[in-house]
Amino acid sequence: MSIFKKRDIKSVLSQKNSSAQNAQSIKKHLNNNVDEYYYDSIDSTNSEAKRHTIHSGCDFALFVADHQTNGRGRLGRTFYSPSDTGLYMSLLFKNTADTENILKLTTATAVCVCESLEKLCGVCVKIKWVNDIYLQNKKVCGILCEAITDKDHSSIDSIVVGIGINLCTKDFPSDIKDIATSLNTTIDKNALCADITNRLIYAVKNISSVSFIKEYKERSLVLGKEIFYTQDGVTKSATALDIDSLGALIIKTDDGTKTLSSGEISVRVK
Ligand code: BTN
Repeated sequence: MSIFKKRDIKSVLSQKNSSAQNAQSIKKHLNNNVDEYYYDSIDSTNSEAKRHTIHSGCDFALFVADHQTNGRGRLGRTFYSPSDTGLYMSLLFKNTADTENILKLTTATAVCVCESLEKLCGVCVKIKWVNDIYLQNKKVCGILCEAITDKDHSSIDSIVVGIGINLCTKDFPSDIKDIATSLNTTIDKNALCADITNRLIYAVKNISSVSFIKEYKERSLVLGKEIFYTQDGVTKSATALDIDSLGALIIKTDDGTKTLSSGEISVRVK
């Protein structure tokens, strides 16, 4: 039985639910006890998650918005988040020894999102290392995992996993219009949000034992390809050889084999 209702885009846009209705609609699909916060508009669901602390009795908190005024991406970039045409969500949870590797968490999240999009939207999506989901060679989703440190910045207290998906965005700003796309889907976004959340919570709870790297590699857009990578402002070319068990990208350069694992590196397929 399908757990989502198909509606046309016009009706999705005109049947605007209240925040409370949306929150309720997500909750009915969730498998876990999750604190849930829904906003018509907010600066960034990741920023909002960082302003909260996890309430006792609930291990996870979910932040969802219809619109972000300051959606954030990796490397200080912005994430275009217009009203009602995308899914903008962040999951906050307490850090454990298993979850503190942000790179590994990012790769696990990418696999969860791909599985969800494939199951609920029937699309075939690929992953561009490390955090971008692509549909037919254009970016349809970005992932931003952030660590929240304690007051004296000595240890990681919590983690926030942010996901932005272009569902039916039509007009992108000129700087991204050639590289961004949307699913153009009629999906119930609350059902999609809940499905991703359920997968993500399972992945987080089982991050040490479950292997998602095999699937990550199978969906990779970069493996075996000639790429450009930018590190400390310098762009070089290389061949993408492999992805290791923690999600780091192994490349062949003129200077030998290198492992790229820093969040400060961007990669472009030639
Ligand atoms: C990227 O493209 O580099 C990552 C984009 C991540 C966007 C999502 S939208 C929900 C959450 N809130 C944010 O401000 N960013 C993430």
